[in-house]
Amino acid sequence: MIPIARPCIGEEEIDRVAEVLRSGMLAQGKLVEEFEREFASYVGSKYAIAVSNGTAALHVALISLGIGPGDEVAVPSYTFYATASSVILSGARPVFVDVDPRTGTMDPDDLERKLTPKVRAVVPVHIHGHPADLDAIREVIGDREIFVLEDAAQAHGALYKGRKVGSLGEAGAFSFYPTKNMTTGEGGIITTDDEYVYSRARAIRDQGQVSKYEHHYVGFNYRMTEINAAIGLVQLRKLDEFNSRRREIASKYTEELSGVVDTPFSADWAEPAWHLYPVRVGPKRDEVVRRLRERGVLARPAYPMPLQRQPVMSKLSDREHNYLHVLFEGVDYSDVETPNAERLTREVLYLPIFHCMRDDEIDKVIREVKEVMKSI
Ligand SMILES: Cc1ncc(COP(=O)(O)O)c(C=O)c1O
Repeated sequence: MIPIARPCIGEEEIDRVAEVLRSGMLAQGKLVEEFEREFASYVGSKYAIAVSNGTAALHVALISLGIGPGDEVAVPSYTFYATASSVILSGARPVFVDVDPRTGTMDPDDLERKLTPKVRAVVPVHIHGHPADLDAIREVIGDREIFVLEDAAQAHGALYKGRKVGSLGEAGAFSFYPTKNMTTGEGGIITTDDEYVYSRARAIRDQGQVSKYEHHYVGFNYRMTEINAAIGLVQLRKLDEFNSRRREIASKYTEELSGVVDTPFSADWAEPAWHLYPVRVGPKRDEVVRRLRERGVLARPAYPMPLQRQPVMSKLSDREHNYLHVLFEGVDYSDVETPNAERLTREVLYLPIFHCMRDDEIDKVIREVKEVMKSI
């Protein structure tokens, strides 16, 4: 079976973790600080704040930017759930924006239509590792006071017009979940150039402490452990190599499968990091996924529905499901239309792609996709 993704952990990561375990220093400490410095320097941002996962990174970033009850935050309707749930956790209301049908990233034209006077932040997602069109988004924002928080959970090392994503908004948020372009086991990080955001985020991820036992904010325990940071330090040094292998696999798929399926579009200003390799196969998508799985290729259907159609969204006004009602009272999303996102959820599937994928695994995926598409 070829999985959709597999973490690629080497002996060096294992040795570094063993060292940490032997040291007895397990909770947030020097390695976390070193990882923050190295990650900030890799991305090209002034500061980085490591946290326990990517959802926490988005949550803390939003709060640190000052987003809260009464505010609205524009998010794409096609993305992983956490992009929107973190907005709800902050007390603000997500506004769902349709996506570009070719890249799956936020559609600046629809953003223009959806911007209300209450929108105080926009969260473009570099979905699949393909950068969102940040300049076009900034143009729509114009001189309004709206922050850009990049959700770069799927795009470590991706380039937008030659610059690393995560360094281009007022803040960026990354995830180090095991299937991501690099991992720390579980983990996340916030990047920013803004000293105020940095100092707030540092405190809020650690019980709101500004110094030991002096709590200036309510805060959370969203700290990263030294064990996670030790893995991250090794993985970060391999990230460029990992991404070039992902790019190699993506080019091979595109070369071999163009004309067989609708291969992913890459904008000329983008150098994607190909966290996922999406192909559009039309309304028979579920059958294609089923047949590929029968043949040992664990393809995955796209996220199942635009986020505003998730069951929780229609239950936000009832207190059983929205136990955060103190922060957020809910809203009716039933007439929010996002036709491009809708189509993506029905017609797209993801092929296996991970940096330690072997050549014979790549060849098998190509062979089986060709066979299945012939038979359908
Ligand atoms: C686009 C996007 N945002 C946010 C997250 C949340 O990251 P985590 O799973 O580390 O909490 C993910 C991770 O799957 C993601 O893909």
